Formats: sequence, C-alpha cells, structure tokens
Amino acid sequence: MKGVKTVYICSECEYTSPKWMGKCTACGAWNSFVEDVIENETKASAPKRIAMNGGGTNHTQKFEDLDLPSYMRSETGLGELDRVLGGGLVHGSVVLLSGEPGIGKSTLLMQISDALGNTDKGGKPRNVLYISGEESGGQLKLRAKRLGIGGKNLHVLTETNIENILDEIASLKPDVVIVDSIQTVYSDRMSSAPGSTTQIKESALSFINLTKSAGISMLLVGHVNKEGGIAGPKVLEHMVDAVLYFEGERHQSYRIIRAIKNRFGSTNEIGVFEMTDKGLEEVENPSEMLLAGRPKNVPGNCAVCTMEGTRPIIAEIQALVAQTTFPAPRRAANGIDYNRMCLILAVLEKRLGLKFFQSDVYMNVIGGLRLDEPASDVAVALSMVSSLTDRIIPDDVIAIGELGLSGECRAVSNIEARIHEAARLGFTRAVIPYRNVEKRKIAVEGIELIPIKGIYEALSVLKKKEE
Ligand code: TYD
Ligand code: MG
Repeated sequence: MKGVKTVYICSECEYTSPKWMGKCTACGAWNSFVEDVIENETKASAPKRIAMNGGGTNHTQKFEDLDLPSYMRSETGLGELDRVLGGGLVHGSVVLLSGEPGIGKSTLLMQISDALGNTDKGGKPRNVLYISGEESGGQLKLRAKRLGIGGKNLHVLTETNIENILDEIASLKPDVVIVDSIQTVYSDRMSSAPGSTTQIKESALSFINLTKSAGISMLLVGHVNKEGGIAGPKVLEHMVDAVLYFEGERHQSYRIIRAIKNRFGSTNEIGVFEMTDKGLEEVENPSEMLLAGRPKNVPGNCAVCTMEGTRPIIAEIQALVAQTTFPAPRRAANGIDYNRMCLILAVLEKRLGLKFFQSDVYMNVIGGLRLDEPASDVAVALSMVSSLTDRIIPDDVIAIGELGLSGECRAVSNIEARIHEAARLGFTRAVIPYRNVEKRKIAVEGIELIPIKGIYEALSVLKKKEE
C-alpha cells in the first residue's frame, strides 16, 4: 500500500526500528519487538493527549489553591473486587483487567455490570454499556441467564469500530462502559490490523479522553501475551488508572485478582474468587482457600513466598526422602530446578552433615507452580530436612531466603511484599534472611520474623511430630 511502511516497535519503550531486533538497543529488553505499520501522513490521526480537564487549555495553579478531590465510587457487587479497587469503582476512572483466555474476565464483568446498574443510592439508576467484540448478543444473553442476571440497566453493543462505538456512547450517555476487549477495537483511520500496537494505543487514548471529559467509568479487558504481560504497548498500562490481573490455576477453581497499579488505592490487596457453575463466587477466607487441603503435621511440607514479576505468590513445597532401592539414589524435581535441588542437597550434606546418599529425594511444588527463584532455597532445604528427619514444619511457618554454597542465607528482593502476602494469608512466623533486616527494620503486623544467618538456624522451626 502506498504511504504505508512496516516498522518494528519495542513494546517496552516504543523504540522504533526498521528491522526486527532480538534486543532493544534503547531499553535493553529482549524479544520485545512487534511488527507494526506506520500510518500514511494524511491518514494518521492528529496526536491526541490525555486531558484531565476535559480538553481545555490548562493554566498554572497555586498548589495551595488546589481542592482535594472527593472520589465518588460505586460498589461492584463483589466485595473482593471492591477491595482490590480500593473501595469500589471510581467514577471517571479507567481500569484495565487482564488475564489468560478462559480465566473468567467476561464472566466477572457480566456479573458486576448488573450490580453497577443497580447502584442507585443517589436515586438515579446508572446505565451500563457492555461492548463486546468477541461474543454475540445471544452469547452474552446466554451467559447472563446462566449467571442469573436480569440486566435491567444493561445495554449491549457488539461492535469493534471505535468511531461507531464513540457515537453510540455519545447518544446513550452511559455511566459505566465495559470494553471486551481493547485488542478487538480498531479505527478506520489507521491501516494497521486490529490488535496492533498503534491500534490499541489509539483506541485506548480515545476511550481515556472520553472518560475524563464525560465522567464515565470504564473497564477495559486486555489480553495477555505469551509471557503473561498485557498484549500491546507497555504505555497502555501507564495510561489507565488501574491495572488488574486476573489469574488462577487452570486445573483448580480458584481465581485471584491483583492490582499491579492503582491510582485510587493500594496495590497490596488481592481478591479471591471461586469459579462455580453460577459464575464467580467470592471467597471470604483466601488463606484457607489457597492452602486448602494442605496436609497438616506431615513431614516434608514447607510454605514459601515467590515473586511472579511484581507479584508475591505463596506456594507449598513438598519433599519426600525415602530409603533407596537403587544402586544410585534417585532425585526428581517437579516445579523446582533439578540442578538447584542437587546443589541444596550437597550444601545440606556438607554443611550440616546430613546423609542423603542412601535416600531417593522427590520434590514437588503444589498447584503446578514453578519456583525458579533462589528465594525458595531455604524452604526447599527445610522440607528436605523435615522429610529426612521425620520432623514437621508447623503450618504457620513460611520460609524465605536464598542459600549460598557455605550454607549462608542471603538476602532476597521484595522481602516486605513477601511478608505482607504471608501475613495476609494467615502465616504467623516467617523465616527470613538476617541480611534483609541487618540495616533496615522490618515489622509486619501479625507475623513474627525469624531472621537467620545460615541454614542451621532455620532448623529451629522443626518440631517433633505429634502422634
Ligand atoms: P470467560 O469469562 O469467558 O473467560 P475470559 O473472558 O477470561 O476468556 O470464562 C470462561 C470460563 O469460565 C469457561 O471455561 C467456563 C467457565 N464458567 C464457569 O465455570 N461458570 C460460569 O458460570 C461461567 C459463566 C463460566
Ligand atoms: Mg472473554
């Protein structure tokens, strides 16, 4: 096509290159280049900006004269989601909800659209517009029926063209707009395909401008790429007010919502749901749910907190140390690195004088998680010693720390986030590296910290099995 040029854009920093590169020369990110189309000069839209005052020109104001904003919020009908949002959906805010396909994003939005349409505390019923680019009206109706949703003030639009969508919004004047999903929305003014970086950015900008000027609350669904990040330009996350991740185990029914960014609340909160045949149900006690069925007082089990990107996740490690019947004892690792396991075994044999050479060692991480982080070393070591010596690690204990070859415990990153997560999930004692608290005092309510310098000190948490 004349006037159309293909370029490669780094999805991290938006550096543009005429050819694909494995590593971005601007920000150093690997594998971040995506193909895109540069717009024809005449076709390209004029650069837009996000205007907080609805599009007028801003003038300098004295800081002292600024008013404190009072955020109006609507309850979504799901307390767990309200908690993550910081107390409800803020009027005039844009929330990006992302997660793997089939995790339940559309289900969640359908459920809350009913509640949002019914919040008429001020007397006026609120209109909700559900824009779907992925499902037909009939499919939406079917889902709503299954969820038991009447949808009194709910309006549905199955459209993907941004210009038409904006026209519909202008005529309906809804209070809440749900877009499922931002990757399906496209503009005629651009020649790149729907879902491309430019299209996503342009559509998001149009939506955000509208939200800020009309005071509409907007929820955008964002697909994830194969690395688990939000597909499209990184700048999308900067543009919106809140970014929520919806995640869960494919084989289990629980789902977790986390805020990785929230301009109107904390990002420490998580919301836990269970996917049932009637949609998502809130889980009142997440710690019980997540660690449900956890065997109590069984040697070999140890809880650990791992970071998945910026997100702390509690996992449970299990070790089984059994007398071998093979000439060379077997070692098998599921969920942790095999070489790392062997290294920790060697440290335990050499530094603590424990004998594993006559035993098979099997390691497993519950829930199909993979712990690639060295911060789980102490928990791996503890679970092995626990199984070998037939002593238990009490179930209120969580172990965090990296091990060096001398058996020393090294500091880990994000220690506070990990401890907070453990405290929230009901743990009352945390084995942590002494190096993390050496220079900086850490105190988290409800959890006792046990700083250790080496693996031998961690063994103090092991207890005799109660028959
Ligand atoms: P969906 O909301 O379509 O996921 P997403 O929009 O994130 O792709 O959820 C689809 C899954 O949820 C599907 O596998 C069926 C399941 N589900 C239930 O188990 N119960 C329900 O009531 C509904 C509506 C869906
Ligand atoms: Mg969907």
